[in-house]
Amino acid sequence: MECNPLNLRGRRYLVTGASSGIGKATSILLSRLGAELVLVDLNVDGLKCTQSLCPNSTYLLDINLTDSGAIKQKISDMVVDFGKLNGFAHIAGRPYIAPLKGVSENVCTEVYKLNTYAAIELAKIFTNRKVYAGEHGSVVLISSVYGVVGSAANVGYAMTKSGIIGITKALAMEFASKKIRFNCIAPGFIKTPMMDANVNSFDQDYLDTLNNLHPLGLGEPDDIAFAVAYLFSDMAKWVTGSVMNVDGGFTAQ
Ligand SMILES: NC(=O)c1ccc[n+]([C@@H]2O[C@H](COP(=O)([O-])OP(=O)(O)OC[C@H]3O[C@@H](n4cnc5c(N)ncnc54)[C@H](O)[C@@H]3O)[C@@H](O)[C@H]2O)c1
Repeated sequence: MECNPLNLRGRRYLVTGASSGIGKATSILLSRLGAELVLVDLNVDGLKCTQSLCPNSTYLLDINLTDSGAIKQKISDMVVDFGKLNGFAHIAGRPYIAPLKGVSENVCTEVYKLNTYAAIELAKIFTNRKVYAGEHGSVVLISSVYGVVGSAANVGYAMTKSGIIGITKALAMEFASKKIRFNCIAPGFIKTPMMDANVNSFDQDYLDTLNNLHPLGLGEPDDIAFAVAYLFSDMAKWVTGSVMNVDGGFTAQ
């Protein structure tokens, strides 16, 4: 008899940031594991590309995640058409590299709305009984090693990613009695389009430093996708409120 505790057949998850990088790799893996998916992103062409690589049923939602009203409306409409959810992964996010003297309130607010507040808004909607399927409830939020350890010129991003850790723990407590698990993943540097955009502004010395910070080398999007699949599966049924470092050893040093 087949034994695959990562089998997600019969479950439905929403994935944000599904057009690119970690969100795209996660969507493809979850779909290959049998899940039905709601793919969310701003980038519609990217969504269609991810959809074409998913073997199982998908529903596309073009949402700007900094717009709370749009999140609520579009997810409510989706549930009527596609069905209730077992969980979601909030993966969409953006970096904000600036030394303290260059940090702007406006940019901080925009990055916070996407990286952090969208997770709260998604959790509010997901935990509503009209949206939550009522079993196998699991939510995965994406933090960063820079939500866990310090790095210069990263105060705005660190604010958003350490906030994810606090949200994860608070919601894990609030929803334990309903058996909805909340966990987050703190990735090290992963080779994605987001990182490529940053790499162009790094000199060779910094790139060497980055490599040295990761004893196992830089990560691949699949390294994070595997962790999301585990946290969604029943293998993680006793795991909630955790911060999973998936960082090639970055934070072990
Ligand atoms: N790549 C890394 O090294 C790394 C390390 C640690 C944490 N992270 C985190 O992982 C997550 C994914 O990063 P990635 O490297 O895959 O990035 P990416 O740039 O490849 O993908 C981000 C996706 O988010 C979408 N997005 C951006 N703004 C949006 C908005 N307002 N509404 C809806 N969608 C929007 C983009 O269109 C894109 O598809 C982010 O939260 C990032 O902070 C990445």
